[in-house]
Amino acid sequence: MHLFLAAPQMGRFLSEEISRASLGTTQAWIADDLLAVENVPDIYRGPTVFSHQCLPKAVVWPIPSIRLTAESLATELIQKFPDDIPWRLHVVARYGIAEAGHHRCQLIREGVVAQLKKRNRSLLKQLDMAPLNGVPNPLGSRAVSPPFQAQEGLVQLLLTSPETGYLSLLNHLTGQMPSQWIGTVSPFLKGVIPIAVDKGAPSRAFAKLVESEHRLGKYISQGESCVDLGASPGSWTYIPAQRGAQVIAVDRSPLREDLMRHSLVKFVQGDAFQFAPSGPVDWLLCDVIAAPERSIRLLIDWVRERRCRQFVVTIKFRGDTEYALLDELKSEMPKLCEVFHLLHLCANKNEVSAFGIGRRLV
Ligand SMILES: C[S@@+](CC[C@H](N)C(=O)[O-])C[C@H]1O[C@@H](n2cnc3c(N)ncnc32)[C@H](O)[C@@H]1O
Repeated sequence: MHLFLAAPQMGRFLSEEISRASLGTTQAWIADDLLAVENVPDIYRGPTVFSHQCLPKAVVWPIPSIRLTAESLATELIQKFPDDIPWRLHVVARYGIAEAGHHRCQLIREGVVAQLKKRNRSLLKQLDMAPLNGVPNPLGSRAVSPPFQAQEGLVQLLLTSPETGYLSLLNHLTGQMPSQWIGTVSPFLKGVIPIAVDKGAPSRAFAKLVESEHRLGKYISQGESCVDLGASPGSWTYIPAQRGAQVIAVDRSPLREDLMRHSLVKFVQGDAFQFAPSGPVDWLLCDVIAAPERSIRLLIDWVRERRCRQFVVTIKFRGDTEYALLDELKSEMPKLCEVFHLLHLCANKNEVSAFGIGRRLV
């Protein structure tokens, strides 16, 4: 059984998405936004747009008490987890309101660590030891989880009530590595990233760009080049310009005045769908308001023609009947990309975000 945590209010669309992908033969809601899918084919590794987290091959794990749970989980890990690869431990709760269960989860986690200290120090030594890869997070102190490394494991214990839980173990011994589940299994607890706030930005839309960067584990950095399509009033453009990257911002309407004058920003007034850069750029950013078919086509064309290396593109919807259009991105983009995510972000409204890294020319 795989468990999927739906993005808030998106349970129905997650269920439809999984049915369309023939991901499993039986679906059952365990809680409001927690979907259990049985008989899942092992081969499915594609993105699930409306799920924030997945617990592959989850089993019921009773929570009799904090102490007994920590003991039983430590025993399971000692028996079933290799002690020579880095691993992460997510102990999270999904019941009640707000932070319910949070403290209980912390205590269970601490209990597991204490058990491993006594019973298997080599396993404990590997906890949270994956190297932080890629460009350092330019946003300073915000807590960020880097993407999974190839040889890294993940343990997830999800409490659905104070006494009930589900356990999922991903490592090479279980034949399921988190790095094979990119776009489905998140390195973030419950797949949640707090929505970024910056009062200096022209609007709050920049939070989608920042969240996509965190999930990708890659950040626009000094000296890079970006094209921002549908850029006005400029809160996406504001992010790379602040970091010392160059931006060509395309829109029918001008940007906020200070961005129009910014030395790293070149504003081009015109149609985003007609714009072509004079050479490849590091990042395509696109938050244009358009029919989803048009944004989907634009993204596929840009990546296929290698006009950009990395991309963050919003696909916007009218109502709730168009989500199946995303299936084209799910089938086409993985062939063109080293990394591809398609997700209803914490910061998204009636839209989803496609972000990733295109393949290099060989
Ligand atoms: C959601 S807003 C973008 C917000 C922007 N990312 C920000 O953070 O400030 C969408 C923008 O798309 C622009 N737009 C819509 N259709 C366009 C087109 N065909 N060509 C250029 N811009 C377009 C609109 O003028 C609008 O400014």
